[in-house]
Amino acid sequence: MDRSNRKPPLSPRVADANRIADTIAGSNPDPATGGEAQWIAMPRSIDIATVCRREFLALGAATAAGTIALPALAQGRDFGAGFVWGAATSAYQIEGSATHAGRGTSVWDTFCRRPGAIRDGSSGEVACDHINRWREDLALIRELGVRAYRFSISWPRVLPDGTGGVSAAGLDFYDRLVDALLAAGIEPWVTLFHWDYPEALHKRGGWLKDESPDWFAKYATTVVKRLSDRVRHWMTFNEPEIFIILGYQLALHAPGDKLSWSDILRISHRVLLAHGLATQAMRATSKQPCQIGCAAALQPVMPATDQPADLDAARRATFSGMAAWLLEPMYRGAYPDSELKAWEKDVPKFPVSDLRTIAQPLDFFAANIYQAAMVRAGADGKVEPVARPWGFPRTLMDVFDVVPGGLYWGPRFYYERYKLPIVITENGTSVPDWIALDGKVHDPQRIDFMQRYLRELARARGEGADVRGYFAWSLMDNFEWAEGYRQRFGLIHVDFATQRRTRKDSFGWYREVIRSNGASF
Ligand code: FCB
Repeated sequence: MDRSNRKPPLSPRVADANRIADTIAGSNPDPATGGEAQWIAMPRSIDIATVCRREFLALGAATAAGTIALPALAQGRDFGAGFVWGAATSAYQIEGSATHAGRGTSVWDTFCRRPGAIRDGSSGEVACDHINRWREDLALIRELGVRAYRFSISWPRVLPDGTGGVSAAGLDFYDRLVDALLAAGIEPWVTLFHWDYPEALHKRGGWLKDESPDWFAKYATTVVKRLSDRVRHWMTFNEPEIFIILGYQLALHAPGDKLSWSDILRISHRVLLAHGLATQAMRATSKQPCQIGCAAALQPVMPATDQPADLDAARRATFSGMAAWLLEPMYRGAYPDSELKAWEKDVPKFPVSDLRTIAQPLDFFAANIYQAAMVRAGADGKVEPVARPWGFPRTLMDVFDVVPGGLYWGPRFYYERYKLPIVITENGTSVPDWIALDGKVHDPQRIDFMQRYLRELARARGEGADVRGYFAWSLMDNFEWAEGYRQRFGLIHVDFATQRRTRKDSFGWYREVIRSNGASF
């Protein structure tokens, strides 16, 4: 078959590349890249020249080990006593039962019905049917031996209209899950918002409305009131940058809007405010001292060499663009200067007191890291992206390449700047898994991927970054947003026709890692 003209279909996550590229704001890349940038399909609505540049930035990332001089590997893989080994999921991706017991509609229910929105035409209506099968899933979580399980609460399952009346059945579900986890000796780590926004609130104007931060704080209070006698670890949001950019700017995720940059910055500000207000409300409501974080989607930027100029370039690139726009107010109480200047005409007016509300002290720095970019310092001190060589190792998920260094440089840079304990709240990979003739699921690439990344994490820890935990994404195969069921990120294989769960080889491998506290690899 002649493949020369075959381009892969557009992945919604191409937009991730744009977002990621934006973190390198101010750099002046040379678009003559070579590499993957030439064949990735572009969203039609986006200017091709821009996307090529952005793709280049996103994909022109890490390079072969030979081009980077790294400090010697830390001795041993000592993760320390009390290291939190976990696995993660999110409500819309696994629960199903979209209309069960009065659950309100979420923007994802509606978005999935939009023709062409989901790559395989599917939805999370059934997903892993976790609402009905959670006991079976819990038995597997227990068998995996994790110390913590990260899951999210579906806002419309708890408050069908987003505000007002609570669904008792909705809250009861999470109540039972928390009890069962604790009874199994597993610490629940709860995310309040993993993208399934109540449709009713979206219809009222959603994050563009002044009231939207209060809606979220009230929802947070409702959940914390009920669960905080048992839950001690919370995350307000999962990956604000992703749902804001993909959902409201590029229409690639729910709710599927294409708003102006000034609206995007208004939404970002309200989401930050929602995080701050909710954090205050949660601390005031919690029945016991609790730990609060916010899981950011991060693409750390690695230096091409260990020369100070390259290190400086990597630091600047790591803390720039949309990533910095959300991290800096949250952790340091101010929007970053260079972005304020670059986006000046679009930045919304807000009272300075908002920044004090946003910058609530947090207990840990929650980082979702799948890969990394690479830069060097140009002759004039500018940040220059370093392209990946042809044939660079890729996962099944477009734009998630295999760049283990992200788990070294990320923790190192984030700890250096924000000085909070680091918890990797998501890391993992999608590979084409299937059930083999022997009835098992052999996923050596996932094992290799996790092993490489965990080595880098151990190295960061060994060199002083205060890394406290690692959550594998994901416990089980699930509904991967606009990719539908085409991506399998799980340690457990799910046959979506029968809902049969099969432990992958990586399940047993990770169990051993946990049991030995990292000594087994
Ligand atoms: C992250 C999301 C998570 C899942 C993984 C693969 O960005 O938080 O829900 O989609 O990517």
